[in-house]
Amino acid sequence: MQSISTRADLRGFVSSHRRAGRTVGFVPTMGALHHGHMALVERCRAENDVTIVSIFVNPTQFGPNEDFDAYPRRIDHDLELCRSHGVDAVFHPGMQEMYPEPLRTVVEVAELSSILIGEQRPGHFRGVATVVAKLLNIVEPDRAYFGEKDFQQLAVVRRMAFDLSMRATIVGVPTVREADGLAASSRNLRLTPAERRVAPVVHQAMLDAKRLFETGERDAATLLSAVRARAASEPSIALLSCDLCDSATLGALRRVADGPAVLLVTARLGSVVLIDQFELKPDLATGGPAA
Ligand code: PAJ
Repeated sequence: MQSISTRADLRGFVSSHRRAGRTVGFVPTMGALHHGHMALVERCRAENDVTIVSIFVNPTQFGPNEDFDAYPRRIDHDLELCRSHGVDAVFHPGMQEMYPEPLRTVVEVAELSSILIGEQRPGHFRGVATVVAKLLNIVEPDRAYFGEKDFQQLAVVRRMAFDLSMRATIVGVPTVREADGLAASSRNLRLTPAERRVAPVVHQAMLDAKRLFETGERDAATLLSAVRARAASEPSIALLSCDLCDSATLGALRRVADGPAVLLVTARLGSVVLIDQFELKPDLATGGPAA
């Protein structure tokens, strides 16, 4: 496995593989890697000849009062995990390499970036879209892999790649969970043992809504109040948002009709913001053919 820290070296690595006719897959990350990230790596390896992972904690997607400094950094552990999962190259640029000058150009995906999490974290998705555009321009992969856990991020990146006619196909990968249902996340490392014990309540609250949905409930307010009621049963969890949206447009739904809907939740536990999602598919619930 190659460990690469400059754009020039990375481009050289990619072009030598391209000349040999190989396809290139790319998994962008901020490190502190876990089995959720590795699901992206495995999918990437299955679908491409060469797998590149980037590790860069991107400051422009953190707000002034957010956890950029506290974000976990574990580069030796990450390199080892990538090596043991058959990654071909890890790109881990320094700050100067990614942002040699203050940016004058940013990527803003209108509407999709300002709703939901974008409303709680103004500028966050501008930072994400901009750094992902930079990374996709450096790597120029055939396919790039993103987790459905960060559902809105996936929607923003998909739309950006489409609008800007990027070469890469954007691939979404289902959320990987711990045994107790908590979505795997680098931020889980910062939960205290007591917080970690109650964290699965977020997922359980979402399962309550899913069970109601499976008994035929379609009214968004009723489904969302089931999530709120369960979350409220655990005083250390503050539900920040809870939305039922159209999976494609992320527009708010009043009822789940024919197409797939997605339940999106953010919750604060101590100093950590947890996010989770899952899709509600009407034809699954009625026993019809799966989408
Ligand atoms: P990061 O939080 O490190 O996540 C990197 C990728 O792994 C994202 O696409 C994320 O959705 C995916 N991922 C994380 N946990 C997952 C899980 N439990 N199941 C499935 N996929 C999971 O997201 C970012 O970094 C950054 O915003 C980035 C896109 C790298 C831009 O800086």
